[in-house]
Amino acid sequence: MTERVPTGTSDFVVVANRLPIDLERHPDGTTTWQRSPGGLVTALEPLLRRRRGAWVGWPGVADLSPAEREPIIDGDLVLHPVTLSDDDVAQYYEGFSNATLWPLYHDVIVKPIYHRGWWDRYVEVNRRFAEATSAAAADGATVWVQDYQLQLVPRMLRELRPDLTIGFFLHIPFPPVELFMQMPWRTEITEGLLGADLVGFHLTGGAQNFLILARRLAGAATSRASVGVRSRFGEAAYDDRVVRVGAFPISIDSAALDRRARNRDIRRRAREIRAELGNPRTILLGVDRLDYTKGIDVRLKAFTELLAEGRAHGEDTVFVQLATPSRERVESYRALRDDIERQVGHINGEYSRVGHPVVHYLHRPIPRDELIAFFVAADVMLVTPLRDGMNLVAKEYVACRSDLGGALVLSEFTGAADELRQAYLVNPHDLDGVKNVIETAITQTPEDGRRRMRALRRQVLTHDVDRWARSFLDALASTAAPTNPASGPGDSA
Ligand code: ADP
Ligand code: G6P
Repeated sequence: MTERVPTGTSDFVVVANRLPIDLERHPDGTTTWQRSPGGLVTALEPLLRRRRGAWVGWPGVADLSPAEREPIIDGDLVLHPVTLSDDDVAQYYEGFSNATLWPLYHDVIVKPIYHRGWWDRYVEVNRRFAEATSAAAADGATVWVQDYQLQLVPRMLRELRPDLTIGFFLHIPFPPVELFMQMPWRTEITEGLLGADLVGFHLTGGAQNFLILARRLAGAATSRASVGVRSRFGEAAYDDRVVRVGAFPISIDSAALDRRARNRDIRRRAREIRAELGNPRTILLGVDRLDYTKGIDVRLKAFTELLAEGRAHGEDTVFVQLATPSRERVESYRALRDDIERQVGHINGEYSRVGHPVVHYLHRPIPRDELIAFFVAADVMLVTPLRDGMNLVAKEYVACRSDLGGALVLSEFTGAADELRQAYLVNPHDLDGVKNVIETAITQTPEDGRRRMRALRRQVLTHDVDRWARSFLDALASTAAPTNPASGPGDSA
């Protein structure tokens, strides 16, 4: 993990705001590494290990020492740390990325803040990532830029290194045109993305929205035919090049998770968890980063009303919410935490017995195997985001249920709902609807549950993260073949 390597030698480079591991500094001056939070890392880490290559990103703490900036060899991966100062973290990461872009792209659930100083810092830090990537990439390399924090990198990198093939993938929803138009720097962001050879989204709707904006804001000539899933790419003729635009729904390492969930120790731990919870008839489970997009408040409210109406009972039903801390210095996240913890306190105050809380709430990252045991133990998985690009938790739950047990309650406002049609789909804005669906899921017949889970598993096991990466990278490789900009994009896509 600590060998040093020269840079500029990698044929395949992933660049993301975060490295797959976070540096942790301890009071005694020692450091350790922890897996980074979030779906992006869950999806990309196993894949990049198989493909080998370099990963350029921030290790999660401010102001790296010269030694901490050195590339790190982690198995077959070479990690290139990018340094951010405290002020960069405040303005580029907490500010523009997570208080401007994140809420704007998630249906303005929280009001986005447009702050010129944050934008300037976003530009500056994106340039730093582009330069670090350029230094890591070999001549003619393929570079894959990830997510909303780095939307200017494709164009900056193309200016630095015209020899590279550049892909970009957005892990969060791409907003409707009407919302995107709020962004004061909408043209710069659109042009930044158009620096890529291929721009990928989870859903066809996002790809289509982007094509409209490329035409309207950057003057690109764009194809009009509808974009398909992993096929029928859109095209935008821009700057003497043709940029492809496509939909590639991300997934998980389904087979690995399926295997792990069958392990005897995990099964035993799942039984233990059930016993520790008092052997209730029904375990409801929520697993999320503590984020206002996830609708944790929605499921708590629904559960409270079910208890109040006597449609669920504290004696035989418990709700476990595992919430990993996230973006804790951003005001809207602090407010959310207060709100959720108040709700949990309220429900337990009203409905628990001594020694038997109805809601178990853990505010910390849970080790992977323990999390898998929770998935195996849970009778009803509650995934109720108000908006989510994909939601990998829903797919993880399904991958863990080789026993065909359990039920998945899934918000229609997640990317996953497009694929997981046999889940109990809900509109999280319709509280009565959510309550009815949770009640239905709790009381489903075993036959109905098995039928649904079998169909869900077929989808998740055949559409794994490898397939996602292959479809994106194959499409990207085919853009590297010379295109003829003179002919412009046709409607044939
Ligand atoms: P997001 O990318 O918005 O965080 P996803 O559902 O796509 O949402 O991915 C979240 C990832 O983080 C999943 O792999 C999930 O297992 C993991 N995760 C979420 N909550 C926890 C937790 N409390 N402890 C450990 N891992 C978690
Ligand atoms: C989502 C985003 C990722 C991000 C992750 C965790 O998955 O799409 O880009 O890394 O959340 O958030 P954080 O702010 O902790 O990196």
